[in-house]
Amino acid sequence: MYSEKVVEHFTKPRNVGEIENADGVGQVGNPVCGDIMKIYLKIENNIIVDVKFKTFGCGAAIATSSMATELIKGKSVNEALELSNKAVVEALDGLPPVKLHCSVLAEEAVKAAILDYYKRTGKDTKALEKKCNVECTSYAHNHDIEGVG
Ligand code: FES
Repeated sequence: MYSEKVVEHFTKPRNVGEIENADGVGQVGNPVCGDIMKIYLKIENNIIVDVKFKTFGCGAAIATSSMATELIKGKSVNEALELSNKAVVEALDGLPPVKLHCSVLAEEAVKAAILDYYKRTGKDTKALEKKCNVECTSYAHNHDIEGVG
């Protein structure tokens, strides 16, 4: 039911932990299952030079956090903003439909961390807040994603 990549990222997740003095920290949660994901970013010259995560959640949430951190490490902030949950799922060779909402947490946690970075550095956050409702912790509900819970 899970791809080999999902199992691999769940059993050996990449970039687990915290970054002291992170430049951006984002936390999102799914109110239905109660899972929580936190992402820390270290950003230099607009490049994500380091990223770590902590996820209290299901296997799919851990695997998608791990893959999301791999996908944005070394990328520019703008590139990271384009990361979709679909891209994370594709990179993991798919997820069962009932677990797709878990991947939304990964996309949202990255966006929430970048929003935090924008705020700390005095950047205009309006466009980003519009782009994605990151301050709402029930993204999956707002976007009517199937399989929540
Ligand atoms: Fe809650 Fe996967 S994120 S069940």
